[in-house]
Amino acid sequence: MPGEPTAERVVILDFGAQYGRLIARRVREAGVFCEILPCDPPPELVMSRKPMGIILTGGPASVYEQGAPRCDPALFQAGVPMLGICYGMQVMCLVLGGDVRRGERREYGRVDLEVLDKEDLFAGVEDVTQCWMSHGDFVLEAPPSFIPLARTANAPLAAIADRKRRLFGVQFHPEVVHTLRGKEIIGNFLYRICGCSGSWNAGSFAEAAVARMAEEMRDGRAVCALSGGVDSSVAAVLAHRAIGDRLTCIFVNHGLLREGEPEQVVETFRERFSANLVVVDARRRFLDALAGVTDPEEKRKVIGREFIGVFEEEAARIEGVKYLVQGTLYPDVIESGVGRAAVIKSHHNVGGLPPGMRLRLVEPLKDLFKDEVREIARSVGLPEEIAWRQPFPGPGLAIRIIGEVTADRLEILRRADHIVMEEIRAAGLHRRVWQSFAVLSSARSVGVMGDGRTYAYTIVIRAVTSDDGMTADWARLPHDLLGRMSSRIVNEVQDVNRVVYDITTKPPGTIEWE
Ligand code: XMP
Repeated sequence: MPGEPTAERVVILDFGAQYGRLIARRVREAGVFCEILPCDPPPELVMSRKPMGIILTGGPASVYEQGAPRCDPALFQAGVPMLGICYGMQVMCLVLGGDVRRGERREYGRVDLEVLDKEDLFAGVEDVTQCWMSHGDFVLEAPPSFIPLARTANAPLAAIADRKRRLFGVQFHPEVVHTLRGKEIIGNFLYRICGCSGSWNAGSFAEAAVARMAEEMRDGRAVCALSGGVDSSVAAVLAHRAIGDRLTCIFVNHGLLREGEPEQVVETFRERFSANLVVVDARRRFLDALAGVTDPEEKRKVIGREFIGVFEEEAARIEGVKYLVQGTLYPDVIESGVGRAAVIKSHHNVGGLPPGMRLRLVEPLKDLFKDEVREIARSVGLPEEIAWRQPFPGPGLAIRIIGEVTADRLEILRRADHIVMEEIRAAGLHRRVWQSFAVLSSARSVGVMGDGRTYAYTIVIRAVTSDDGMTADWARLPHDLLGRMSSRIVNEVQDVNRVVYDITTKPPGTIEWE
């Protein structure tokens, strides 16, 4: 079928939010397309994907906890190679008649793994190698027909296999970097055991995506909301390749963007890609709607509502629109699909489907992770600044201004933020941190400048490292760099006399301040 990512696919059954993603990344890095499903889908659903292998992830639960997740035992009879990781191995053992016990205490950290059998899963791995353990329960006895493949001092059954049924289990975590040969072990499972060739990559995906979109949007026109971020930009470029002039990109300048962003969107899409681009200057409209609004959730709601209003009005001007192209990513799909995580903040994603418009949604990136989208961005010729743009929230600078959003306060924040970004880039850290930005707090404090007393705003610098934005650590920026940012901000930005650095992790903090 045109546009199918690949005939080779592996299904990952996720026994605990988060665990599946890292495994999925490793599988994709090995050149195999994979999909994460919640841990207990009906076997028919799994089999409808025609998987060449199934991976059962780790999870936070004990198999003995009430309501501990299980998968359907029929899956073990399906004849598809399986790899159970940590909790996944315990579930496999329990279902197939092994003995899983509650550990006296958790085993956690780096451990030496002694490899006993190198026929397939451990082919090419040294006799003793470091692995990463993190488990409470352990397998005391493997199910009949399983043999041990590796052991550690505390876990005689650190890896097991039933070769006839092609079922494998490892107690350690091959997906984390602390398992030194984890990449090889996952590769061995995919290539040697499942028979995958490893030919999938983001570039081949782009080609297939264009073909699929051309097919999906054979007639009529499409619109795409451009935000200036990498996701919507890549979606727009692919759609443009697929249907050319039948696509109109709509860029709503809500006035909440960072310095230089609106100009860059216009330069890129109108000038470089010659795409149909409608630029709507809605700055006044958003400021008016935000007047007097100080509650963070209220801000998001106002911005979401206004955005949809503007977008709908613009799209309605175009004759024969049938499709809405969106840059939804795979993590968004998993989050809304699995739906276990509590809603902490209502995320406003620019380009939400306006309820009044009956448009068919086209989401070419819904199978991809962020780093894969960045790779495509480069391969289709988007400028580096867009390909490597740090994540930026839909409501923009409005949720980085504590209290009311006004034109003056936006200007203060935009200038301070620009200095933070310039310095981060100059220090070569732009890609190493997940996000770096300024926040305008509502705190004002006393300072002294020249001969005079000042009473002005405090700017907060926030820089975090993260894999996916779900958890984050504050970045250990060099003191000199922080010093340069601070002195430039107080010298170059009016109405600011103090700069602080936010050293809160997520959790308990969030990355954004609102
Ligand atoms: P928090 O603040 O919840 O943010 O730790 C996690 C990540 O999500 C981004 N973010 C948003 N993105 N619309 C978006 O598209 C939003 O409303 C929104 N709020 C937060 C944030 O920048 C970080 O990368």
